[in-house]
Amino acid sequence: MSRLESLISQLDPQLLPRHVAMIMDGNGRWARMRGRQRGEGHAEGITTVRRVTELSSDLGIGYLTLYAFSTENWNRPQEEVDTLMYLIGWAIERELPDLIRNNVRIHLIGDIERVPEEARLKLTGSRDKTAHCTGLNLGICISYSARWEITRAARHLAEEVLKGNLAPSDIDESEIARNLATYPFPDPDLLIRTGGEKRISNFLLWQIAYSELYFTDLLWPDFGKEEYAEALLHYQQRERRFGKTSEQIANE
Ligand code: IPE
Ligand code: IPE
Ligand code: MG
Repeated sequence: MSRLESLISQLDPQLLPRHVAMIMDGNGRWARMRGRQRGEGHAEGITTVRRVTELSSDLGIGYLTLYAFSTENWNRPQEEVDTLMYLIGWAIERELPDLIRNNVRIHLIGDIERVPEEARLKLTGSRDKTAHCTGLNLGICISYSARWEITRAARHLAEEVLKGNLAPSDIDESEIARNLATYPFPDPDLLIRTGGEKRISNFLLWQIAYSELYFTDLLWPDFGKEEYAEALLHYQQRERRFGKTSEQIANE
């Protein structure tokens, strides 16, 4: 039995997260450590996207959300932004046949209008071509930030009130969730960040209210299926209390 098979055999299929979110960090450092351009790290990172998508799909996890490019990442040097946009378009196009074969449905999460046309058309085309898929829901966050999303939701709700479609008293937590870019994904059960930083960097601030957080020092291109399975094992050892006591949870 391989190490991966052994890790998977230790997982409780009843206790798998419904939704895993990932902050894919560390590509630049991975390349720099090898004396290579940062863009080469991003290219290498695509392999890890394949791995985590495959394992999520094989395990029957319902939703996987990947933070690929933040609103703040637009402030990187233009050359790196161009490389990232090129790679995102190229990768999604190349992976599309496999994604369809594996019944993976792509969702685009973020201010996609800001993405240059060439990459944007590849992204929206892939989303549309996987709209019939019923397996893993793969959310790709591009030009995304939680504050962008919450601001947009507030504006939309204000407009609905002005139009008379909604009363202020109708605005409850589920109404806000319905107006977020991740809708209809459930909240993540597990958030994984690679690359060693222990911060959230403007990702899913509303949705991670009760997510389990898992940080690893491994750089994104070095994160493999084994490491993902280890993160899932850690997750299964956590006690999720949602504000209750351990005794209450034990008696549920
Ligand atoms: C993550 O890797 C990818 C993006 C943010 C687009 P980084 O490019 O942030 O890599 P580091 O953090 O500089 O190593
Ligand atoms: C977070 O990584 C964004 C993505 C992974 C897309 P960053 O590298 O941009 O985060 P900071 O700047 O270190 O917080
Ligand atoms: Mg980074």
